[in-house]
Amino acid sequence: MSDPFEKMVADARTVFEASASKPLRDAWAGLSLPQIRADLIERLSAAGIEEAGSDTRFLLAHVLAPASYADAVADPALCSWQQMSWLADLAWQRLDRRPLSQVLGSQPFWTLDLQVTEDVLTPRADSETLVELVLEKCGPAVANLADLGTGSGALLLALLSERTQWTGTGVDISAAALDVAGQNARRCGLDDRAHFVEGSWGAALAPESVDILVSNPPYIRTDVWRELAPEVRRFEPRRALDGGPDGLRDYRALLADAVRIVRPGGLVAVEIGYDQGEVVADLFDQAGLVETGVKRDLAGHDRVVFGAVVSTNG
Ligand SMILES: C[S@@+](CC[C@H](N)C(=O)[O-])C[C@H]1O[C@@H](n2cnc3c(N)ncnc32)[C@H](O)[C@@H]1O
Repeated sequence: MSDPFEKMVADARTVFEASASKPLRDAWAGLSLPQIRADLIERLSAAGIEEAGSDTRFLLAHVLAPASYADAVADPALCSWQQMSWLADLAWQRLDRRPLSQVLGSQPFWTLDLQVTEDVLTPRADSETLVELVLEKCGPAVANLADLGTGSGALLLALLSERTQWTGTGVDISAAALDVAGQNARRCGLDDRAHFVEGSWGAALAPESVDILVSNPPYIRTDVWRELAPEVRRFEPRRALDGGPDGLRDYRALLADAVRIVRPGGLVAVEIGYDQGEVVADLFDQAGLVETGVKRDLAGHDRVVFGAVVSTNG
């Protein structure tokens, strides 16, 4: 084949024919959009996905944009075979139980839309409780924030988006996660106030350099982690989730750093599992933090433990 254009088309066809989602594309050939939608819901349900209906809605919205599903049903010209082929590729990944956020490549958190890959934990709505707590306790005055275990940058970026005078550092042990966090800072227009450092908890940060410390460390017991849904266990980073045999390993490590890096009078606030309020509050007390409290999430579960570093003024 001498013509470069013909060769390009032939190569593209080979890739297309060999792609893993071919069985879906074959099954959908000749079907209408509503028939494809019904088939996809059935397949996702059969794969054990409880949110089959809403996942199908999100996947369709993603590939049909800017047209809506209703528009595309009314006018089939708005739904091309390329879009259905793309839908098949995305659906194939979801059928393998890859989380929807990773399939779509992003996840809303607070008021932001954050990039998500398999190198970071998908930000959870529960973590917005920690953002709310910090905003309740801290006004707009200049402050330096640290987010230990920043992952996608979710906590850091949500807080910087609300407090325009704050600056902050996101720390993570994963360089790949920090790449995603850095891209998210640029995506949100916050890269002039957000900095990222690779390291373990607060080790790389200077004494008394931080006014507010937040963290959502891994807090799931190892035996519980082994039982998690495939979406989480197979596709999200284990070191973002597994908190050791009692789930508390990382609170002990980061609290030891917190009392060194947070200035006297500064705030420390961490996310916790629903049953860890009492035990993590005890760890705060043992670390010498004062004015300790627990905040619940919208479902009424303990979700955040907070405390202050002893003020030099008493
Ligand atoms: C539960 S995820 C939280 C991610 C993000 N802050 C959020 O709330 O969505 C925990 C994060 O801690 C990081 N991590 C684990 N061990 C660490 C360590 N020793 N030092 C710093 N970060 C660590 C993981 O890579 C992961 O990004």
